[in-house]
Amino acid sequence: ETTRVAIIGAGPAGLLLSWALQGAGINSIVVENRSQDYVLGRIRAGVLEQGSVETLTRLGVGDRLASEGLQHDGIYLQYAGERHNVNFNELIGRTVTVYGQQQVVKDLVTAHEQAGSTIYYEASDVAVDGLLTKNPSVTFVHDGERHTIDADFVVGADGFHGICRASIPSEEITLFDRSYPYAWLGILADVAPSSDELVYALHEDGFAMLSMRSPAVSRLYLQVDPADEITNWSDDRIWEALHTRLGTPGWSLAEGPITDKSITPMRSFVASRLAYGNLFLVGDAGHIVPPTGAKGLNSAISDVTELAAALTAFYADDESLLAGYSESALARQWRVQQFSRWMTEMLHTSPGDLQTGAFDYRSQLGQLDYLTHSLLAQRMLAEQYTGLKL
Ligand code: FAD
Ligand code: DHB
Repeated sequence: ETTRVAIIGAGPAGLLLSWALQGAGINSIVVENRSQDYVLGRIRAGVLEQGSVETLTRLGVGDRLASEGLQHDGIYLQYAGERHNVNFNELIGRTVTVYGQQQVVKDLVTAHEQAGSTIYYEASDVAVDGLLTKNPSVTFVHDGERHTIDADFVVGADGFHGICRASIPSEEITLFDRSYPYAWLGILADVAPSSDELVYALHEDGFAMLSMRSPAVSRLYLQVDPADEITNWSDDRIWEALHTRLGTPGWSLAEGPITDKSITPMRSFVASRLAYGNLFLVGDAGHIVPPTGAKGLNSAISDVTELAAALTAFYADDESLLAGYSESALARQWRVQQFSRWMTEMLHTSPGDLQTGAFDYRSQLGQLDYLTHSLLAQRMLAEQYTGLKL
């Protein structure tokens, strides 16, 4: 088999890239090692920057997003038991839209099915070869048969644990990363969200957040120890912690049946290069942010937008954008990294020694107090939360 672009991974990044390339008349094949049901079932991110909404709309996969997405003007920041609204729309005229990653993936899968795209699910032994040549290839086993795809380019959209980044010789790449002394316990609950906009809360017991997926489904998060296990958290214990950390006078959190719960570790990670010969990395394959600030999925969409434009220019005889992809996507990513780290450290309690912890907590209160009382600081938050321009 031959194609112009062989894409590894059918997460949001891979599916969107293949879709964008198709719109530009460039064929591609997607190879995914999990099943379609698994890909569709993964519950992850929930907030789309305004630019991400514009991209999905421009590419013709924004219909359900327009009718079912929940457009939010801002967020609430809560500390010391008080809730403060930050209105991005008033501050800078931009908004965000709450629409689950699962829904984005579902819309892309539907669009690809209608277009008859080639996507191999449940591929095993996926490997890449000839990355430094003009004819890179991808090999894999599907339905017991060995396949080889010869392509002009290979794109690694295979997430943090994928094989593409790992196929770059270790002496050619540096991995920058840091971990955090906390993790997120996330639940989905069948209950109408108790707030019109997301609530990010700093409490002495740790961070908590109220988010949502629809007018009938709430998504809630709690800071927990990274070594903690989900079996330690009964539904009752989760609700009790949420009531404590999100509580504010005159407001109450409505409970409902919990339909999903899991613990996700947090890390910051950036690879020193997103290109190696004719291999390009997009999304989590090249970088990871801690989730506070909701930048993971949005970064993947930004990478894909940029790479699709670069590949389109390449086939129209302009190689400069492709040559500059790695550097330009990394520069954008480092700006996003510092924002995600800033949001994360402002809102989570450090488990360190008691004295340092007590100081840090009060310093974070000062930080939030400044933010909620300075329009300049709020504009800075608004600009980054709703998405920096490419
Ligand atoms: P992925 O979604 O990881 O997709 C990669 C795809 O490649 C997968 O389908 C995988 O099966 C496939 N693949 C892997 N290896 C191979 C292989 N060898 N061969 C073929 N295919 C392969 N972000 C937020 O903003 N907010 C959140 O609340 C949030 N929660 C998250 C919770 C979890 C548990 C995780 C892991 C991430 C979360 N993120 C969140 C981050 C966000 O979901 C990611 O940034 C986003 O999914 C990146 O998309 P992607 O397509 O680059 O990678
Ligand atoms: C969600 C996740 C985030 O990381 C965030 O900052 C806001 C919302 C969510 O899953 O809804």
